Amino acid sequence: MATSTGFLFFFFTFIFSLFSFLVFISRMKPWCNCHTCRSYLTKSWTHTFTNLCDWFTHLLKNSPTGTIHVHLVGNIITSNPDNVEYILKTRFDNYPKGKPFSTILNDFLGRGIFNVDGDSWKFQRKMASFELGSVAIRSYAFETVIDEIKTRLIPVLASKAHDKTESLTEAETERSDALDLQDILRRFSFDVTCKFSFGTDPACLLPSLPSSNFAEAFDLASKISAERGIAALPMIWKMKRFFKIGSEKKLSEAINVINDLAYDIIKQRREMGFASKKDLLSRFMGSVNDDDKYLRDIVISFLLAGRDTVSAGLAGFFTLLSKYPKVEELVREEVNRFRNPVQEYPTFDEIRQMHYLNAAVHESLRLFPPVQNDSKFAEDDDVLPDGTVVKKGNRVSYHPYAMGRMEKIWGPDCLEFKPERWLKDGIFMSEDLFKYPVFQAGSRVCLGKELALMNMKSVVATLVPRFDIRLVGLDYEPRFVPGLTASLRGGLPVKVYERKC
Ligand code: HEM
Repeated sequence: MATSTGFLFFFFTFIFSLFSFLVFISRMKPWCNCHTCRSYLTKSWTHTFTNLCDWFTHLLKNSPTGTIHVHLVGNIITSNPDNVEYILKTRFDNYPKGKPFSTILNDFLGRGIFNVDGDSWKFQRKMASFELGSVAIRSYAFETVIDEIKTRLIPVLASKAHDKTESLTEAETERSDALDLQDILRRFSFDVTCKFSFGTDPACLLPSLPSSNFAEAFDLASKISAERGIAALPMIWKMKRFFKIGSEKKLSEAINVINDLAYDIIKQRREMGFASKKDLLSRFMGSVNDDDKYLRDIVISFLLAGRDTVSAGLAGFFTLLSKYPKVEELVREEVNRFRNPVQEYPTFDEIRQMHYLNAAVHESLRLFPPVQNDSKFAEDDDVLPDGTVVKKGNRVSYHPYAMGRMEKIWGPDCLEFKPERWLKDGIFMSEDLFKYPVFQAGSRVCLGKELALMNMKSVVATLVPRFDIRLVGLDYEPRFVPGLTASLRGGLPVKVYERKC
């Protein structure tokens, strides 16, 4: 009797799973034979394009509505500012992150702010906006950044600087002793984020460039989680996770390393006492002290928010600056004009007055946004302003990378790095956020925007007058690795020359 009940149970479970699988597959339209889906599945787009984001940009440019549909994965991708406003503001309620998103990222981000909707999101957003918006925390953040620049970033770059007599051609062709600027900037951002968010100093940016298990695990977890998001057949990663094999085994190992550090940070904070501390974690601990898993998720989300975005933004900035010497000259000229000769480092107020610098940073983020695309999941059937039909459960993504390269939005010179487009009579003029959703827009607009811009400007304003940073290889074109934030395959090889200032 027990055997036959067991058999029946197994049989019905099997039939039910098979049925769910078929329903799931039929929703995904895996047989779609349109050109885009075929190219996506067979990866034939790689014959013409280096990066997936460049292929999508090409497709979006050629779409009359600025929107495409990759049926195979149920993903509607748009570069149309009206659609972006509709998704992020007008019908915000219909476009949450959704269950599919949180399933993809749950192992890595848990219930952190990036991965939740509803009350949990509201609670974290309220806490974080209160903290990030305060003048005290901004000046604490600025001090932290300047301290890391002064004591680590500048000494490390100076110690790796080359002899100025080396000819430019030599510099640009000789890769063997190049410095990986992406790695340096990530170490910098990691130290700054940990100090600012958790009050601990991991000291990653030292002249010996120590290897960091944590940083490697973090990169791997971000990469594998992002690969889950673009998988044509999500069933495959789910099976791999179930059997703990391949990339899913690696993800789980990486997450263990990340968890060890996060729980360690929380424990240290608790032992040291958090009531009088200024960092973000201490402030969160005041409200959520008894749930370590939740605190862990908050810690990881803030690390992701602060570390990878700012370093990716700076990597994009220096890539462009190396190719546009005129912009470099104008940034340098402005910084020198504002700098108080008796002070070695610019102050918060001086940086705030640098309009050209602000324009140059915004312009580089337009061409190289750290978050290249971002998705929501439709709660209900809908129609976007450009007429695109959305079905319940469809993934709907806006694509800041493609939007920054659209003639329709930025004009015929859209591919040029031209800070002047942000200036009117020398004064910085911001753009419509739905045209430039680099920091997202609407109800979930980035909470660290001002902080991130200040971090980036502080780095530029202190490095550019001191160093010439040159890309190795005149023909350098970025190649991105899949990730939640833009990450360069092979890093960013540069040579650094100290200037006499
Ligand atoms: C150049 C740097 C940055 C860029 C381009 C950027 C961009 C973004 C984007 C696109 C989102 C929306 C993500 C999503 O909903 O999936 C976001 C959200 C967020 N960002 Fe940033 N970010 C940057 C730096 C920072 C920093 C330094 C912090 C904090 C220290 C921060 C804190 C946040 C938070 C808390 C959210 C979640 C907002 C919410 O869901 O309500 N960001 N950011």
